[in-house]
Amino acid sequence: MIADVLIKNASELVTARGARGGPKTKQAMADLGIIRNGALAIVGKEIVAVGETDEVLAKIGRAREVIDATGGIVLPGFVDCHTHLVFGGSREDEFIQKIEGRSYLEIMQSNGGILSTVEKTREALASPETLMKRAQVFLGKMLAFGTTTVEIKTGYGLSTESELGLLKIIARLKESQPVDIVPTFLGAHAFPREYRERKADYIRLVLGMLERIRIEGLAEYCDVFVEVGAFSPSEARTILEQAKKQGLKLKLHAGEFNDIGGAELGVELGATSIDHLDYISERGMELMAEKKTVGVLLPGVPFHLMTDKHAPARKLIEAGVPIALATDFNPGSCPTLSMQMIIALACRQLKMTPAEAINAATINAAYALDRGDEVGSIEVGKRADVIVLDIPRHQQLPYWFGVNLVAKVVKNGVVIE
Ligand code: NIG
Ligand code: FE
Repeated sequence: MIADVLIKNASELVTARGARGGPKTKQAMADLGIIRNGALAIVGKEIVAVGETDEVLAKIGRAREVIDATGGIVLPGFVDCHTHLVFGGSREDEFIQKIEGRSYLEIMQSNGGILSTVEKTREALASPETLMKRAQVFLGKMLAFGTTTVEIKTGYGLSTESELGLLKIIARLKESQPVDIVPTFLGAHAFPREYRERKADYIRLVLGMLERIRIEGLAEYCDVFVEVGAFSPSEARTILEQAKKQGLKLKLHAGEFNDIGGAELGVELGATSIDHLDYISERGMELMAEKKTVGVLLPGVPFHLMTDKHAPARKLIEAGVPIALATDFNPGSCPTLSMQMIIALACRQLKMTPAEAINAATINAAYALDRGDEVGSIEVGKRADVIVLDIPRHQQLPYWFGVNLVAKVVKNGVVIE
């Protein structure tokens, strides 16, 4: 067999294999399936051989392109399973207010926060080309940091026209750059100013948007921000039930600042993932563990908001909840593009081990997007999304923080220069 790409001599080939038809839980989260002096071969967009370098070399005759990873480690590309990547403007002034002690919810209630980005995004939608180019630049940087699959939510339009406009930009992003994109509709991100006194009318409007999205096939997931000052569990239920009827899969923002029962609701409705979980009840944890609902933890948020309330990752893992990690990239609560930074924070603030954090950022994050069969691990038959890091052992990934350790990215079998 002639391979297109061969990566050999990795001091650790971190396969993240071992998931059995669902995300990893408990002790399995600590198992990275490491092959020492490892290699893998790629044909087209697919991984065709994985093993020790000698074994892989014996299987393939030659390769058109060879990457010698001596002294480095090889990982599956990161899956960033929660982002709000398309938006106008930025919110560094709010960040300064937070340094001075104002809280996220306070800023949100006084017309800042999400609604200020909605204003900027609506303005920017007048020239969608510019908004799209900016998103492409963000995605390019993510790829350079080792992220090969990204979920993108809408939620800064909050009108039928602008939410559909955002979904169309996301659809064009899919076609115009190499990172794989998963589109999520988050029309229920906040009540727009013009509906502040007419909440029921806005919910009806969102239901109408869902109908358009179904007809135009623009989203795979529907998400709702379940929070004090955003959507109540009963408002969320109305929207999510309708989304489900229309064939969308479900996600929830729950427990970012308060636990108001979002986790319980998410499990009941069969959500694929429930995200944030800085606040979650014991019952919520039990239910998530029982249904294997992925808990997507976003440690960049409390870091950026300077709160010291962190998701109870150790308790969640012990309870059997499958944990994934993501950036939550957005202009308000987490302006980072780096999954390496998130892994570093997960270890320090959530007390996850490097191995758990890496599984959470790869295979379990793939399951949080229902793509555990396609990406997230280095196994024969999976998509050739692979990164080479300039460190000899995976424990160094979170240790060197705030630096880009990625030496090479292979996306869909193509070595990115
Ligand atoms: O996940 N919580 C709601 N949405 C984002 C923040 C969005 C914003 O502040 O613009 C989040 O934290
Ligand atoms: Fe978010």
